[in-house]
Amino acid sequence: MSVASLPKVELHLHLEGAAPPSFIRGLAAEKHVDLTGIFDTRGHYVYRDFWEFLKVYEAATGVLQSPEDYARLTRAVLADCAASGVVYAETFVSPDFCGGRDVGAWRDYLAAIREAAEAAERSDGITLRGIVTCIRHFGPEKARETALCAAETAGDWVVGFGIAGDEQAGAPKDFAWSFDCAREAGLRLTAHAGEWGGPDAIRDTLAALRPERLGHGVRAIEDPALVDRLAEDGIVLEVCPGSNVALGLYPGWRSHPIDRLARAGCKVTVSTDDPPFFHTTMAHEFERLHDAFDWDEGEFDRITRTALDAVFCDADTKARIAKRLERA
Ligand code: ADE
Ligand code: ZN
Repeated sequence: MSVASLPKVELHLHLEGAAPPSFIRGLAAEKHVDLTGIFDTRGHYVYRDFWEFLKVYEAATGVLQSPEDYARLTRAVLADCAASGVVYAETFVSPDFCGGRDVGAWRDYLAAIREAAEAAERSDGITLRGIVTCIRHFGPEKARETALCAAETAGDWVVGFGIAGDEQAGAPKDFAWSFDCAREAGLRLTAHAGEWGGPDAIRDTLAALRPERLGHGVRAIEDPALVDRLAEDGIVLEVCPGSNVALGLYPGWRSHPIDRLARAGCKVTVSTDDPPFFHTTMAHEFERLHDAFDWDEGEFDRITRTALDAVFCDADTKARIAKRLERA
């Protein structure tokens, strides 16, 4: 049996970042928006480094202009996830892109995304939940407005709050109010850290924002004491190896620290981040990890159990996903 066909749980997936380039080109044509600069001659997204990636990401997102656009996006993304064996995913969604942080508009976007997700659950047996995400380089003021949108809509579908974007913009403590607001609303917390920032950035993030999961977190490997602490405290790492390799953080799969982090006792999970940008899928991530580290079905089973343990959804949904994994 190929590891690619195993059932999967994905915790770290940006909804806009999962948009197939053909989908974005189609919307751009409908809306007469010129996006030629963000695609190469084969029609793939093109960028030279992480910071250019963020610009291309935001340009592509610019054609997503209505709740219906997001409903179509959600359907396209979930079809791809389901084809890769994903039975449960949590996706980052940003009121910055969905209604400009206006709570009323945000509710309309959210309703459209949820409806599309429910249709995908009926047709493809994949369950989706949302993590409202502020964008670090948009600044703390906008993050506060985003946190208020998150708090207003916290519940059975919006289950978490996070921060993405340029890790080198500002400091984690600038976003503490937003994280406190989300925590008080009952949301579970994750933060991108230890991707472009080193061990100190991870320590600062844990101190200021107190997340239970870290987006990436892989650069903890540069500090053995921090690795021990992550393992002891049970901080879950949403590791996206294909993303890290594509963006040049590591020169190849075999030099990626995921295997060393797992062996050191860290709670490691596997996700795609922004799959078409990095020419990956969950099935591809599993295959490459098998090739690079000889991970077998037992190792992937551990990864998936760790991810299931770390989901932000309610207990009933979690039990349903556990059954679905058992059956598969
Ligand atoms: N937004 C989308 N992908 C991201 C990444 N890999 N890091 C930070 N912010 C992001
Ligand atoms: Zn990410």
